[in-house]
Amino acid sequence: MKEQIQALRAELEALFAQEEAARWTERQAYEHKMVYLGKTGSISALSKGMRDVPAEERPETGKLVGELRAWAEEKFTALEEEIRARALAEKIAGEKIDVTLPGKFAETGSVHPVTLVRRELIEIFSGMGFDVYEGPEIEKDYYNFQALNIPADHPARDMQDTFFVTEEFLLRSQTSSGQIRVMENKKPPIKVLSPGRVYRSDSDATHSPMFHQMEGLVVDKGITLNDLKGLLDEFARRMFTARTKTRLRPSYFPFTEPSVEVDLSCSACGGAGCRLCKGTGWIEVLGAGMVNRRVLENCGIDPDVYTGFAFGIGLERIAMIKYGIGDIRLLFEGDVRFLKQFRN
Ligand code: PHE
Repeated sequence: MKEQIQALRAELEALFAQEEAARWTERQAYEHKMVYLGKTGSISALSKGMRDVPAEERPETGKLVGELRAWAEEKFTALEEEIRARALAEKIAGEKIDVTLPGKFAETGSVHPVTLVRRELIEIFSGMGFDVYEGPEIEKDYYNFQALNIPADHPARDMQDTFFVTEEFLLRSQTSSGQIRVMENKKPPIKVLSPGRVYRSDSDATHSPMFHQMEGLVVDKGITLNDLKGLLDEFARRMFTARTKTRLRPSYFPFTEPSVEVDLSCSACGGAGCRLCKGTGWIEVLGAGMVNRRVLENCGIDPDVYTGFAFGIGLERIAMIKYGIGDIRLLFEGDVRFLKQFRN
């Protein structure tokens, strides 16, 4: 028995001494440990063999077996700790941060200038109590034209070269169709914005076959052109500068009477005349007017009781003036170098 104990100790010492032991994984160390200290391991077998040891030798032999077990356990524990420490050190070394390496930058997107303008307009007008209504882009001739006092053979149709889908349906050429849809469903007081895409067969540096408009409509008792002028003054100051002024010029739209074209004093030169305003000091930005009585009647609103005004703002036009964009096509080409400039 004593020889067996000595032999096992020698065997274990040799095991720990070999270079390989230093490179074991935790799993391998455990497997080796089980060969000696597991339930059926050789040290455990020694303990079981105690039965056959003569009684007088038992205390001493038992002590030796106990010492061997304690020593082996200690050695394996130390080895396991070493292995864990090494694994951690290797992991840390592998993850070392080289602060001199250039960073990885995630490209962030930016909000499209037309979206910026739409959001700002909605913010300005909703602050004045306007609701937002969005109508369909594929619209009935009735809402886009007829109800707006533009019958089938009306020459005013030439102002908007329209894409027809069928004889009855078209791609709306103006958000004014939203006026009718709102007035059909709601009785005054009405204060609504109707933003959205509109389509016209038109394409050059200042016209795009698809562009965005925002319609504004106010209908109530006693609404006058003065209310329109006051509202537009406020809009001009908020959208551009505190010094921006508005000017109304007579115009014509079948659905408003009287109709006006609205100019803003040029924010680039302050009205002195520059390239942006073509030397006039004024920039045309939108069409507006008092809602034609025929239009109110078409929607079942009594024009002798109620009056209202409407205006239609081109969002691209506002974006071009506000951000100094010379060609409308830049807004639709999706060139990141252009769009990036609107970050923040
Ligand atoms: N719908 C008109 C256009 O597209 C603009 C407009 C809107 C004019 C509302 C008057 C009132 O040209």
